[in-house]
Amino acid sequence: MSADYKVHGSVAVITLNNPPVNGLGYATRLGITKGLAKANANKKVKSVVITGAGKAFSGGADIKEFGTPKALQEPNLLSVILAVENSSKPVVAAVHSVCMGGGLELSLGCHYRIAAPGCNVALPEVKLGLIPGAGGTQRLPRVLGVETALNMIVSGEPVKSELLASLPGQKLFDKMAASPESLLEEAMAFAKSVAAVRPLPLVRNLPSKHPLGDAYFQFARNMVKGMAKNFPAPAKCVDAVEASTKKKFDDGMVYEREIFINLMWTPECRALRHLFAAERAASKIPDVPSDTPVREIKSVAVIGAGTMGGGISMNFLNAGIPVKMLEMKQEALDRGIATIRKNYESQVKRGKLKQDKYDQRMSLLSTTLSYDDLKDADMVIEAVFEEMGVKEAVFKELDRVMKPGAILATNTSTLDVNKIASFTKRPQDVIGTHFFSPANVMKLLEVVRGEKTAKDVLATVMALGKKIRKTSVVSGVCDGFIGNRMIEQYSRQAGFLLEEGCTPAQVDKAVEKFGFAMGPFRMGDLAGNDIGWAIRKRRYVEKPNLKYSKTADLLCEMGRYGQKTGAGWYDYQAGKRDAIPSQLVVDMIEKHRKDLGITPRKISDEEIVQRLVFALVNEGAHILEEGIASKASDLDMVYITGYGFPIHRGGPMLYADQFGLFNVAQAMQRFARNPLDDAEFWQPAPLLAQLVAKGKNFN
Ligand code: NAI
Repeated sequence: MSADYKVHGSVAVITLNNPPVNGLGYATRLGITKGLAKANANKKVKSVVITGAGKAFSGGADIKEFGTPKALQEPNLLSVILAVENSSKPVVAAVHSVCMGGGLELSLGCHYRIAAPGCNVALPEVKLGLIPGAGGTQRLPRVLGVETALNMIVSGEPVKSELLASLPGQKLFDKMAASPESLLEEAMAFAKSVAAVRPLPLVRNLPSKHPLGDAYFQFARNMVKGMAKNFPAPAKCVDAVEASTKKKFDDGMVYEREIFINLMWTPECRALRHLFAAERAASKIPDVPSDTPVREIKSVAVIGAGTMGGGISMNFLNAGIPVKMLEMKQEALDRGIATIRKNYESQVKRGKLKQDKYDQRMSLLSTTLSYDDLKDADMVIEAVFEEMGVKEAVFKELDRVMKPGAILATNTSTLDVNKIASFTKRPQDVIGTHFFSPANVMKLLEVVRGEKTAKDVLATVMALGKKIRKTSVVSGVCDGFIGNRMIEQYSRQAGFLLEEGCTPAQVDKAVEKFGFAMGPFRMGDLAGNDIGWAIRKRRYVEKPNLKYSKTADLLCEMGRYGQKTGAGWYDYQAGKRDAIPSQLVVDMIEKHRKDLGITPRKISDEEIVQRLVFALVNEGAHILEEGIASKASDLDMVYITGYGFPIHRGGPMLYADQFGLFNVAQAMQRFARNPLDDAEFWQPAPLLAQLVAKGKNFN
């Protein structure tokens, strides 16, 4: 039973006990109702306290039960709350640390609530594409007022208990405890003091109203429009709270339940729940147990103070880890430091960083021109030029100077990590840490596991990734790792679309309407079209039969590398980032079509999106069957956190699952018949074909 029951004199105490955050799983729910029954049957007991053991009162639903029938197994949360409300003896919730979601709803079913200071109070369901489903939208407005309650429900953000307790007229907390330590004592004393009160106060009997009535809800609907663009839940939060002001309590509860269940089946909710689970799953590596010992990383060295070296360093400085940067020349170090300073200073100016924090971070940064100064660092990350010869020289030096057990990481984006490891006599300590630019901003970190990378090295880097607040995803060694390998196929398709009749702006618009932060051509202009050019030149030699559109090469031959040269697929005005469609580029594409004898056709937005997204999906399937990634959800995490894939679609692999893999395969067959596309390109990956044959999904 995940709830303890103990009688102290005339007070029964039910303590939720389901670590880590007392999720309201089946056993815990059963524990509460059994405890209540015992308390009500025991003549000596006059009142009841419900509290939580350890780090929380309750974090709400048990994530292990998400989407399983167990979540609804009786007693479900609604029944538990009803049992609490109907208890003939007063029930006092003693909340502390974390009181969220179902946990807060449970406390709202209690007759009284006493809170410890510092408790995080929230209804975060909206973040999973839902609304609270156990009375939160009906009861919270009754104790906090419509406006405060709706703000909490729509944002899902936690508010501190003491702040809520200070609101005039609030009825959420009957009392604040002096401290978390004294909470239980005070709650028991409070429970004794109300033992004889009858009738028992019920939140359901309080009124819910807003002085402005309909006008307020109209206003609220306008306010949530922005965040509701791709998600149905925020507007539904408004509907449900409005119902608390218009319907009888029990009718409001039914209305809330209906909305909750309908939302549960929306693709947006499925996407958010998928990503919630995917984020947690990403840190689990099948053959590296979670109790694998990790090495201590108290200091880091970074080789190269360029674009990536600077950004990478900032991550560690932000986390309070000292960094020593090495370059070949003092000027390069000075430039690197100046860039980091400029970055922090702009944060200070915008009020995002306090001056003392800035000073403290800079004091953790030191520089050197000599490898011998790095010997004490626990980890070194190399971010020098992308050339194997340069990497070789660096890793040989690192092998010479670094202390035994130090982790040697490379930020290479295209080179073979196994080969880099082979330049040392300790390949077990070598790993790839592929940061994304700007490295101090982007969430994604691809952790590249070499053939010989030791398990504890992998576990250490994954833990470190968490410390510097990255979403870390493990990738095996292959050209482009997960993200760039998939994007290469997406870019190839984008090129074919131009040849067949699209303009760059048309493709970008279609993809952005689908929800991508940026279409492929705007993205190319931002990243620099010369990068893809260099990769293609290599491909032309390695795989001479691979079909490519030449449009991107022609663009680069015009010197249009993107924003950095003031012109790319689009024109740019000095100092501005707005992409202005370029007649020159359109003319270039048209001439190219003529040269190839292609008569352009009109291509629908739907076809554009499908060809680009399914290109990602098919390559993703290859990556999975090769074991480069261990699960489909990892690919989704990479695309959501590193490539601006729309969150409400849940990543390319989940999107394919929701589209139906059978339908994906059908579309691919259609594309393969297009003579201007590449039939080879659309051969389904064996894994995809197998899943279709078995009627299964990636996730
Ligand atoms: P960068 O050219 O801005 O910086 C490289 C720095 O390394 C320069 O400051 C250079 O002086 C220094 N350097 C070169 N050889 C050195 C040596 N032997 N010893 C010490 N310092 C040396 O290049 P960037 O963009 O920072 O790239 C660095 C690495 O990160 C490359 O491997 C690149 O492929 C990778 N990468 C780059 C991304 C990007 O968007 N720029 C994204 C992800 C990875």
